[in-house]
Amino acid sequence: MVDLQSEVARAAGEVEAALEAFLPLPAGAEARLHEAMRYATLGGGKRLRPFLAMTAGTLFGVPRSRTLRAGCAVEMLHGYSLVHDDLPAMDDADLRRGRPTCHRRFDEATAILAGDALQALAFEVLADDATHPSPVVRLQLVAGLARAAGASGMCGGQMIDLEAEHRTLSLEEIYRLQRLKTGALFRFACECGAILGKADDPARRALSDYADALGLAFQIRDDLLDIEGDVTETGKDQGIDATAGKATTVALLGVEGARTRLGALLVEADEALRPFGEASHVLRAVMEFVIHRRS
Ligand code: IPE
Ligand code: IPE
Ligand code: MG
Ligand code: MG
Ligand code: MG
Repeated sequence: MVDLQSEVARAAGEVEAALEAFLPLPAGAEARLHEAMRYATLGGGKRLRPFLAMTAGTLFGVPRSRTLRAGCAVEMLHGYSLVHDDLPAMDDADLRRGRPTCHRRFDEATAILAGDALQALAFEVLADDATHPSPVVRLQLVAGLARAAGASGMCGGQMIDLEAEHRTLSLEEIYRLQRLKTGALFRFACECGAILGKADDPARRALSDYADALGLAFQIRDDLLDIEGDVTETGKDQGIDATAGKATTVALLGVEGARTRLGALLVEADEALRPFGEASHVLRAVMEFVIHRRS
């Protein structure tokens, strides 16, 4: 039995300390930007993406210090995506991680800049030779995160998400939206462990299949929580999706249909992990956690 909660908590402590060290201390005339970057990144969040990076890395014997750096880069990118996602022009959210959203605490322009700067810092961390001595490996990491974050990843998905407020999507279209806006970053979180460990192609494919199932399950659970979650646990505004007319699996399949889909994704994740045998038990536990999470 894996005590996932304590493993995630231990990793979250490492992530918090590493992020603290990466983020600029408020100084100079631009101190407000530094404060907003720190506000958006420190002291909250499940830190699931860095945990996945570290866990995937252990499959290939990667030193934790390296996957921690790559995981922090993913977490910064994720933090930026949340700050921009919450803006009035996007989801117009007031609450994030149990606190006012970044633009509410600061202002819109500062939140936009903080997101931009977090994204840039993520790539700076990957490009540093402390992440891996080989420039080829570092380039693979940089290219991988760029693909996951950009037009064919998170940003592309966010565009579809916004446009879907004005038209009805088919189930396949919603899955594609979710694979892009959420799945791409989860896939990269797993993939960076394989890149740092110079894993072979079959192992990379298996891990990527697992991450696809995980990313989709994560977003379906997120959509369910928007309806049936408890704000004291999620730390986010409830009911935003229905109000905005978002295209979600729950809107199309209903609550029961979405739960059934989560069960099917667990089976897919198990199949994908089979080649790794016992070594993948933590990744299996992460999938279980994602399906049942309340925050
Ligand atoms: C929220 O992600 C955004 C989605 C992709 C649904 P998380 O639920 O991982 O947010 P934090 O980092 O724990 O706050
Ligand atoms: C956003 O999805 C995913 C991102 C790329 C940030 P949501 O809009 O559903 O995320 P939450 O519910 O605000 O965390
Ligand atoms: Mg959104
Ligand atoms: Mg949102
Ligand atoms: Mg949501």
